[in-house]
Amino acid sequence: MQRWYFRSTSVMIVRIWSSWLVQETTENFDFAPKGVSKLHLDVPDNKFMEFIPKIDVIVISSGHWFAKQSVYILNNEIVGGQLWWPDQSRPMKVNNVEAFGISVETVVSAILTHPNYTGLTIVRTFSPDHYEGGAWNTGGSCTGKEKPLPPDELVENGFTNIMHKKQVSGFERAVKKATNKSKLRLLDITRIFGYRHDGHPGPYRSPDPNKMTKRGPDGRPPPQDCLHWCMPGPVDTWNELVLEIIRREFEGDRNSS
Ligand SMILES: *[C@@H]1O[C@H](CO)[C@@H](O)[C@H](O)[C@H]1NC(C)=O
Ligand SMILES: *[C@@H]1O[C@H](CO)[C@@H](O)[C@H](O)[C@H]1NC(C)=O
Repeated sequence: MQRWYFRSTSVMIVRIWSSWLVQETTENFDFAPKGVSKLHLDVPDNKFMEFIPKIDVIVISSGHWFAKQSVYILNNEIVGGQLWWPDQSRPMKVNNVEAFGISVETVVSAILTHPNYTGLTIVRTFSPDHYEGGAWNTGGSCTGKEKPLPPDELVENGFTNIMHKKQVSGFERAVKKATNKSKLRLLDITRIFGYRHDGHPGPYRSPDPNKMTKRGPDGRPPPQDCLHWCMPGPVDTWNELVLEIIRREFEGDRNSS
């Protein structure tokens, strides 16, 4: 956890790292050995849940960790895994995309039914990546992208689209369970920031002064990051959107929300 306190306005901003937003353990569980991350998809992560009654505005974002190795547990039963499934002859009940949707439902409904939370929750949707011509580890690239895509040139990304869809449906299932003391907004940035293939660090992520930033003589792209965002850029716009949502909620401009 990191905390920044602004004395002039008595505001504290807290950043809490929770990779999947649900409870994670590494102890052995049934046939899953010790060491591998196990996610209880129906249990919210207490690392942040214990703090939420003290928070006025929560911004939640998650998703990309569902590409990493983990075991999925629902109702105390192993139901699937990502990059982990020992018995290929047995079908998984829950893959990583479904697991993401379930985790969103779990955490959002836990917040919306929390007896002592009365604040505003903003769920930021899945952040699009821009690896072209391959994945992050197979030569995908955003080298040389210096401007947003023109309106008619958005490249559809199937994984981004399905993750977004599952996240929104998990959010909607959670809304139905709300006991509505608190407020909720979906900050839906996924599609519009699909245009910002220029907003990632690209080949400039590494602090190594001798890093490669251009394609090699054989046309191969340099090592790069087309998933995270650098400042200034899209993240600043997300901050502006968050501030606008907060302003409307807390400064009485309720009719126009
Ligand atoms: C809610 O607040 C009450 C009164 O302070 C406390 O007893 C209870 O444990 C709290 N519940 C949760 C889930 O934080
Ligand atoms: C709470 O939610 C229920 C069901 O969605 C709705 O009928 C009711 O008007 C809500 N109450 C408040 C105070 O928003």
